[in-house]
Parts: sequence; structure tokens; C-alpha cells
Amino acid sequence: MSNQTAQVHLDGQIYELPIVESTTGERAIDIRSLLRLSGHTTYDSGFMNTASCESGITYLDGNNGILRYRGYDIEDLAENCVFIEVAYLLINGELPDHEELEKFKYDMIRYALIHEDMIHFFDHFPPNASPMSILSTMTGSLHDFYPEMDLEEDPYGGMTTTTARLLSKIRTIAAFSYKKSMGLPLVYPRADLNYCSNFLNMMFDRPNMPYKIEPLMVSALNKLLILHADHEQNCSTSTVRLVGSAGVRLYPSISAGISALWGPLHGGANVAVIRMLELIYADDCDFDKYIGMAKDPDNPYRLTGFGHRVYKTYDPRAKIIKAATHDILSQLNISDPLLDIAQELEYRVQKDDYFISRNLYPNVDFYSGIIYRAMGIPTNMFTVMFALGRLPGWIAHWQEMHMDKESSRIGRPRQVYNGIVKRPFVPVGQRG
Ligand code: ACO
Repeated sequence: MSNQTAQVHLDGQIYELPIVESTTGERAIDIRSLLRLSGHTTYDSGFMNTASCESGITYLDGNNGILRYRGYDIEDLAENCVFIEVAYLLINGELPDHEELEKFKYDMIRYALIHEDMIHFFDHFPPNASPMSILSTMTGSLHDFYPEMDLEEDPYGGMTTTTARLLSKIRTIAAFSYKKSMGLPLVYPRADLNYCSNFLNMMFDRPNMPYKIEPLMVSALNKLLILHADHEQNCSTSTVRLVGSAGVRLYPSISAGISALWGPLHGGANVAVIRMLELIYADDCDFDKYIGMAKDPDNPYRLTGFGHRVYKTYDPRAKIIKAATHDILSQLNISDPLLDIAQELEYRVQKDDYFISRNLYPNVDFYSGIIYRAMGIPTNMFTVMFALGRLPGWIAHWQEMHMDKESSRIGRPRQVYNGIVKRPFVPVGQRG
């Protein structure tokens, strides 16, 4: 809390409201007492400018393109860590030492299997079921198959084992859902493979076509998952916190987060980007048409992969992913026309006043799909990949919310009612 206050003038009265200061110096007006003191609420649809909690997990400066997990720059983590180290950092607040990391890796292997009865679930989804609906359903059901996993083992000392189990099992579910959708035999996790290699092997190994694990792919996957691991109070994370605030346990809360992520304005954007690039390609690369549609105020069409609620400059994650996309494609000698389309679109958008004046830059989803394609991951699995990455962030926020008395209050926004004030009841036969 800072010593300063803000004054609100209402109906001839002045109300002094406290100002809260973040560790990085940003200030927020604490309006919690305003309703009690003045009878006024505040209106902020879409939470454009409302902090719903205090959080020490991720720092984001959207004007300067800075993203840090627990104080570490995203660039350093993406360059030097494996995904599970970063998951450990987000959830426990510190990077693991050698022994802690080895134990965490061991737990990943130990808990990688899912209950065999869960495998029958896959048989009862329709053949074209979305892997996101499968993932959300199966994650919610972990609560029943592993009730002991959903108890806070040590709420004030971290949830390392619970986390390892969840990260590991959801990875297995994701790979199994892909195999089932292809009608292929399941490939079980192996004890000799690390987190990302195991995932790629479960996805692509076949009895008649053994999968060769390519270190470049493993390193790219680590990077992508790290870059998606947390992004403070985004839609899916806020969903996990809101659902969890009602006392819902970890797994169903995560399942709600997966559903929120699915939307095309959020994690589903990586699928929508590829669809858009394919459409432009099939339309003789008519960039002007699509840019024109996106600029037309009477057309709801948008260029997916551009713009962000918080970043008003280049998304730092998009910068890293763009460079990694070039590396992978050139080192593996893969040519993808969609990369050329993406680069040309970005070039044109960056010269266009409409996009410049609104600070619309590529976001994390713009290039990620092109790397996933190079890895052989099908488009309908892209948002599942995002969910695998975001899992540690959701867990960290769920845990933080429960450990903080203030933000663990049940989430319950106010509204400005704009319906009919009151009218007399009319029985059914007399309604005209
Ligand atoms: N293409 C064209 N115009 C855009 C775009 C876009 N991608 N994004 C925003 N705009 C325009 C809006 O039309 C609006 O213009 P106006 O001021 O003339 O009305 C202005 O820019 C501001 O846009 P808002 O919708 O108010 O911004 P908001 O913060 O609510 O939305 C969002 C952010 C949803 C990401 C938006 O930029 C968008 O729809 N982008 C495309 C979808 C996408 O890529 N989503 C992934 C986001 S990253 C993630 O969640 C992982």
C-alpha cells in the first residue's frame, strides 16, 4: 500500500481511496470501499482496467514488450531451461537445484500412466471429436480417478508431486487423444525419455514406423511450452482462479481453464491463424483483400494472430518463436509456403496506418502453428499444445489464489442492470 490516495468526487462528496503499488512501481486505485462509502460500483466490461488480484508469478510490461516469470526474463528461460524446470519455477517460486530437478523428472516418469479404465473414454467420443473437448473432459475426470491427487498435500510448502502427476498425465492424455483420433494403437510413455521426447514419441511412434527423436524438435518443443507457460491474468487463467475461488478443486478448475483456452480469441487463435494463412494462399495470395476486410469497420473480420489486450508492441514470445521457426525450417530443410505468406502479411501490416495506429503486432499465436506443422503436429492439436504449455501457470495461479486470503474470496463481479425495472405478473392464458 502506498501513502498516496486518489480522490473520487461524487454528488458533492469527496471519497479518499487508497493506492496500491506494485513491486515494479505501477499503481492501482483500490476501489473496494467505494460501494460501502458512496453506493457506487465501477463499470469495466471485459476487465480492460481491473486488477482482480495481487500476484507474484508473472510480470508483463505490454508497452515495452517485457515478460518475466518469477523475475526471470522469458528470453533467458527459453534459451537455457527445459520446460519442466520452468514449470517448477512457476509453481514453487524458485528454479530447482540439481536434486530437486532429478526428483521432479523422476516423478514425471513415475506418474506418466493414466488409469487403464480412462482409456475406454476415448472409444466413446465421436470420431471427429475435438481434442480440446477430450482434454477438458478427461482432465475433469482425473478428479475421480485420482482423488488423492486433488488434495493439497502441503499447501504452504508447494505441490511438487501433484504438479508432476498432473503435467505428466495430461501430456499422456493429449498424445493418446491424437492416436485415438487417427485410429492408431496407443504408445505408452517410456521411462528412458524426458518430458518433451516422451510426448513426441507417444504422438508419432508406430509399431511399423519407429519414430526417430530429433533433438532439434525436442528443443523447439521445450521452447514453445516455456513461452506459453504463463501470462498472468489472461482469460483461461482468470477462469481457473474464478472457478477455484468457489472452492472447486484443482482438476476441475484446470478443466474449466482448458475450455476457456479453446476460444478463437484466446488459445484457439493458433488454429485460426493457420486457417487464415491457408485461405490467403488458396486465394492467390490476395493480401489486399484480407487486410481490407480486417480494416473495414462494417466487417467483423480480423487478422488472427495480430493484436493483444496487453501488448502494445511486439509480443516478446512472438519474436522468439519467429526466430525458432526460421531455425527449424532451415535446419531441417523444410519449406512451408505458409511461412512466406505469414512474413509477407506481417510486412504489409507493419507498414499500414490502421495497424500502426492501433499498435497491432504479431502475437504468440502468429508463428507458433508453423513450427507445430514442421513437427508434424496436426492443426486440431495446436490448442492442446498451448494447454500443455499453460498448465504450470494455471496450477501456480490456483495455488497462489488459495494461499492468499484476499484473492481466495469467491469471485463475484457486479453488474449494471439494464433490464426492465418491474412489471405485473400475467397468467399464461392472459398473455397476448
Ligand atoms: N485485426 C484487425 N483489427 C484489429 C485486430 C485484428 N487482429 N485486433 C484488434 N483490432 C482493432 C479493433 O477492431 C479495434 O479497432 P477500433 O478501435 O477501430 O474499433 C482496435 O483494434 C482495438 O481492438 P479491441 O478488440 O478493442 O482490442 P482487445 O484488447 O479487446 O482485443 C484481441 C484483443 C482479442 C487479441 C484482438 O486484438 C483480436 O481479436 N486479435 C485477433 C485474435 C487473436 O490473435 N487472438 C490471440 C490473442 S493472444 C492469446 O490470447 C494467446
